[in-house]
Amino acid sequence: MENILVIGSSGQIGSELVMELRKIYGDEHVYATDIKQPTREIRASGPFQILDVLDFNNLLHFLVRFKITQIYNLAAVLSGNAEKIPLQAWDINMKALMNTLEAARESDAKKIFWPSSIAVFGPTTPRHNTPQLTVMEPNTVYGISKLAGERWGEYYNKRYGVDFRSVRYPGLISYKTEPGGGTTDYAVEIFFEAIKKGRYECFLKEDTALPMMFMDDAIKNTIKLMQADPKRLSLRSAYNMAGISFAPKQVAAEIKKHIPEFTISYKPDFRQPIADSWPASIDDSIARADWGLETTYDIEKLTSTMLEKIREKQGK
Ligand code: SER
Repeated sequence: MENILVIGSSGQIGSELVMELRKIYGDEHVYATDIKQPTREIRASGPFQILDVLDFNNLLHFLVRFKITQIYNLAAVLSGNAEKIPLQAWDINMKALMNTLEAARESDAKKIFWPSSIAVFGPTTPRHNTPQLTVMEPNTVYGISKLAGERWGEYYNKRYGVDFRSVRYPGLISYKTEPGGGTTDYAVEIFFEAIKKGRYECFLKEDTALPMMFMDDAIKNTIKLMQADPKRLSLRSAYNMAGISFAPKQVAAEIKKHIPEFTISYKPDFRQPIADSWPASIDDSIARADWGLETTYDIEKLTSTMLEKIREKQGK
């Protein structure tokens, strides 16, 4: 019997992951927690509690009380926001992870998922088809915290037997809960604005290609990694996960196929240099071989699904 704790269940990933986990493990066995209120769907379908992962004693108490066996810790300050509050973001991102790892060591919640990111790479990394093992000199607070986190995860696995599992998520695209403060957020905003206003001002340049993934693919593969036979996992840091690579002008062209009057303009801001330091495309062959990573959304399917679902949601 698995009892699963999701930390950060009100965020972009958490609000969809909880619903998927509840389908698999049963509503009552998936504990959603956050410092923010959850979606109506999450509240209505199973347990939700306010829980601050930065409070170690409370976290440990929660794990013991509810006999938690697995933790998905999704709490983080994203790349753009982290640049505005560097030291605070470092404290939050690292403490949230270290508390989880320590609590795992001291309890039965030995299986941990914690997301890493394409932000672990930096300007000196090969930009195209970036390999799993390569030069890693991230120059953002978020990227430095993710790289350090990967190293700590592997350390807790090797030293204390914590069953740490992670992927380097590309930009995640979803329609249920919008992201906040990330560099890849444009690829979500653009769909909402296309429907609302028929135009979008993009904070990245038109040809800035980045790896992206539709949320359904991200969730499916995250759960697949967590369910994989541990003997098949050759890596205990974080697996590269590629998705599809595109630039703003490409997604704009796709949207135009559905909304011919759609227009886009470009006004790069402080997130442009962050995007420039990240890979344009990623090699995820190790994840495919080890635990069967597979994705199903290309840019056409992603665009039509996003537009359809946002329209449905907004009753348009
Ligand atoms: N999507 C994240 C960000 O832009 C990267 O992991 O911050």
